[in-house]
Amino acid sequence: MEIKLAVIGCGKWGMNHVKTAYKILNKNLISVCDINSSAISKVEQVSKEIKFTSNLDDVLNDSGINAVIVSTSAETHFDVAKKCLLANKNVLVEKPITLLSAEAFELINISNERKLKLMVGHVLLYHPAVLTMKDMIDEGLIGNLQYIYSNRLNLGTIRSEENILWSFAPHDISIIQFLTGSKPVYIGAKGAAFVQEKIEDTTLTYLKYPNNVHAHIFVSWLHPFKEHRVVVIGDKGMLVFQDSSKNEKLKFYKKGFSIVNGSIEKFDSDYEVISYPEKAPLEEEQKHFFDCIINDKTPRTDGVHAKDVLDVLEISQVKLNE
Ligand SMILES: NC(=O)c1ccc[n+]([C@@H]2O[C@H](COP(=O)([O-])OP(=O)(O)OC[C@H]3O[C@@H](n4cnc5c(N)ncnc54)[C@H](O)[C@@H]3O)[C@@H](O)[C@H]2O)c1
Repeated sequence: MEIKLAVIGCGKWGMNHVKTAYKILNKNLISVCDINSSAISKVEQVSKEIKFTSNLDDVLNDSGINAVIVSTSAETHFDVAKKCLLANKNVLVEKPITLLSAEAFELINISNERKLKLMVGHVLLYHPAVLTMKDMIDEGLIGNLQYIYSNRLNLGTIRSEENILWSFAPHDISIIQFLTGSKPVYIGAKGAAFVQEKIEDTTLTYLKYPNNVHAHIFVSWLHPFKEHRVVVIGDKGMLVFQDSSKNEKLKFYKKGFSIVNGSIEKFDSDYEVISYPEKAPLEEEQKHFFDCIINDKTPRTDGVHAKDVLDVLEISQVKLNE
């Protein structure tokens, strides 16, 4: 089976999808659709062979296209992804899957009924460092999980259609869900809006998972420097993944406390830099999508994974509004 792809939405992130898909598929990236027809010039710079349209129906009615990547703004994901599934296209939709979990549920049902793949762009689950962390945790190298926190901070792209929680935190919720292999039993959140009224620039989400595993997620687009850092604490060791640093991105610390003859003793040795394969996460994500279609596999970030992330976002938003 050959993948014949369309990318819908070629804004800032969508163009990354277009360039990556062209690298993987070449002429089998058939078309790109964006309601903003001036986007054609960006697409032509990638290849003049790619058809450009500002009419989604051109993609939907092209029976040769069997897969689409939806990278439009979040509030349109449900409508666009649903139309694509109903036109029998396999769908990779950007995060967040939809804005309401009922909508996500509907997309999952349609994809199941039609035996189509529904995958969501939780790109960090295709980052080799995150996969390495997961392997190390599963091998017991840091012992029992105790605490995870994630900082995703930057003087970033400020959005008006969504707050920082919906823009940044899907990545962190997805990672913590993947590393713990579970869903939170308690969710709390606080935030503050400074730049735009009622649109939080900074939020702190507190999560409690089964087996006394705790986590927090601090996200902000009102921050003087970029920091993407995930810290995982276990009872035998600790992992730090700092994607925003130039080198030594993944470190393993054999640090912690143990009880020896009834007293608490600290163990504290230097860190070890952990190497992992150099692979581009977005390329890995797209290859996984194509592999799942061709070999009928369940995507790592399928609709169910994404709906679980969305549930956490929805409850966090309720807590922010209290
Ligand atoms: N996975 C990641 O790391 C990551 C990073 C950035 C953005 N994103 C997600 O990617 C999506 C796009 O983000 P962006 O930064 O590129 O936004 P953007 O606003 O730059 O681009 C969105 C594009 O979609 C087009 N569009 C809107 N509605 C459309 C429709 N109905 N049909 C066709 N085109 C339509 C717009 O004209 C625009 O060009 C968002 O959902 C965002 O959350 C994901």
